[in-house]
Amino acid sequence: MIHFLDIHKTDTDALRQMMDSAHAMKAARQGRPKGQLDDDQPLAGRMVALIFEKPSTRTRVSFDVGVRQMGGQTMVLSGKEMQLGHGETIADTARVLSRYVDLIMIRTFEEATLLEMAEHATVPVINGLTNRTHPCQIMADVMTYEEHRGSISGRKVVWAGDGNNVCASFLHAAGQFGFDFTFTGPPTLDPEAEFVGYAREKGRRVSIERDPARAVEGADLVVTDTWVSMHDPQSARERRHNQLRPYQVNEALMAKARPDALFMHCLPAHRDDEATSAVMDGPHSVIFDEAENRLHAQKAIMRWCLGT
Ligand code: CP
Ligand code: NVA
Repeated sequence: MIHFLDIHKTDTDALRQMMDSAHAMKAARQGRPKGQLDDDQPLAGRMVALIFEKPSTRTRVSFDVGVRQMGGQTMVLSGKEMQLGHGETIADTARVLSRYVDLIMIRTFEEATLLEMAEHATVPVINGLTNRTHPCQIMADVMTYEEHRGSISGRKVVWAGDGNNVCASFLHAAGQFGFDFTFTGPPTLDPEAEFVGYAREKGRRVSIERDPARAVEGADLVVTDTWVSMHDPQSARERRHNQLRPYQVNEALMAKARPDALFMHCLPAHRDDEATSAVMDGPHSVIFDEAENRLHAQKAIMRWCLGT
């Protein structure tokens, strides 16, 4: 069974193949109405379940549109409305869904839920975000970097803020796509040692720099994300904001990066908290290309999982 659970768990050549396929599928759709089908219909006759235990705009819409463009059908399921939310086990849910659908995408809280789903499903499972990682996002982000600046290999990526799930998948991508990574944020919100260790084992330079101005020196790409993720308790909001305020990505900080540096944010953003509107809407920003590229990258991921 070919699952897409995380970037570091996926073969490096397969990642490259998916990336090339995503670029090609995007190019083939230029100028077409969104609802027009692709010329190839690699998901014809396929049924895809999209399960959400957390809110979503981009993941939900991009997967749904992507499946339809490739000729498949979708059903969007909310965890709360399923028996899953009322005590049925993940394993049983996986076995049952595998009798109805050809592919499962799940956004959930615990990584263990995703892994249990993958273990018991007899169809491919795709990680649509857990508390720990968000691999589909970073596939779209690498694609976005490549389309604006060419290969990301050997580049310097700087993450400012919370060392969260999106940051973790960036560290996986650093290992797989070969870029260097600097984290700048408060020590209490460092990325987990496992993620940092993975990128280092793959030979990448990973540094932790507490001074954001020093961190972004020579950066080719500056990335941030919300200061309070969906799984973080609301009670931590004020403390996190106080700790993270010095790491806001604003014009003064972007000015210290390379002149041609890109700015990314997976969205949804809290404007003028983690990044100012001047940066989000400014010349370095590619945030809406990232959002669009979720569609193309995930189409490539689904094709790879299904072998179509
Ligand atoms: N970036 C992202 O995953 O957005 P959604 O939460 O809207 O799906
Ligand atoms: N870190 C954020 C990403 C949202 C797409 C969260 O987990 O809420």
